[in-house]
Amino acid sequence: MSILEKIENLRSSFLIDLNKVDNTKEIETLKTKYLGKKGPIQDLMIQLKTCEKDQRPALGKAINDLKQELSLHCENSLARLQSYEYEKKCKKEAIDVTLPGRKNFIGNTHPVTKIMDRAIQILIEMGFAVQYGPDIDSDFYNFEGLNFPPDHPARDMQDTFWITDDMMLRTHTSNVQVRVMESNEPPIRVIAPGRCFRNETISSRSHVFFHQIEGFYIDKHVSFADLFATMEEFWSKLFERDVKARFRPSYFPFVEPGMEVDIECSCENGCKICKNTGWLEVCGAGMIHPEVLKSGGIDPEEYNGYAWGMGIERLALLMYDIPDIRMFTENDVRFLEQFS
Ligand code: PHE
Repeated sequence: MSILEKIENLRSSFLIDLNKVDNTKEIETLKTKYLGKKGPIQDLMIQLKTCEKDQRPALGKAINDLKQELSLHCENSLARLQSYEYEKKCKKEAIDVTLPGRKNFIGNTHPVTKIMDRAIQILIEMGFAVQYGPDIDSDFYNFEGLNFPPDHPARDMQDTFWITDDMMLRTHTSNVQVRVMESNEPPIRVIAPGRCFRNETISSRSHVFFHQIEGFYIDKHVSFADLFATMEEFWSKLFERDVKARFRPSYFPFVEPGMEVDIECSCENGCKICKNTGWLEVCGAGMIHPEVLKSGGIDPEEYNGYAWGMGIERLALLMYDIPDIRMFTENDVRFLEQFS
């Protein structure tokens, strides 16, 4: 095939290839294929050396013209494709400033945490130190050390989630009492906030999972009057209004005498929460039993004390007028966002 024929063939095959190109990368490949050092144009230059001398200038010019023509095609296509790709990228990344902004949802403190925090703050101001106990505890700290002998019927008052024969999910924050006594000398003025668990039927006023704050004071000559005074000051500070509290004698193995504290329900004509009695039990309390002081290594001849344990969810029901304790664990944002 003559050089001129080859030139023609190259031109037409280049134009066919160029037609298929649709991005800048392919243009680069095409350029190397035809105009590269090992490409067909370079081959023509080599072939030129074997031609008759008098034909060489004309053929050389024809090859150079082809080379320039192909380069120009490549440059033009490259420029066109570059601007096309740039436009495409801009469109893709464009920000529509007229769109409304996305709303940020900011969480807020859960009502139970709110009351917990406020109660802890009040009690710290009243002179109590905070101690935390384990959620999973032994029979000794949850029951036996608190004067619940093995097989004592009082254990049935707190249906228990057992983990092993000896370990359980604590049924109350009273499990912190003996722990603190073991490692502290009276006077002891401690509160123990935390989670508690009971294997009970869930209803509008009871749950298997709830929070308590335990409080206890051990010193010489602690009296029932100290307990009343502390309770009353605490309720009025927490509710920030006059609340009616009712103290009823009751039985807990770890206090003697023992009582339960009811707070007046916020309903007007009776409700499920107060079972139409107008009162809701929120707290157990009493003078610490001498056997419990002994479990903690404290001499009951020298010291005595009081203790109470209150249910935070119960207080939250009253404070916020909430009809069902289950709402606290359902995590419905329509409920939770009302407490922001
Ligand atoms: N631990 C008791 C309960 O959960 C409450 C309580 C605490 C009662 C301290 C008396 C003294 O029911």
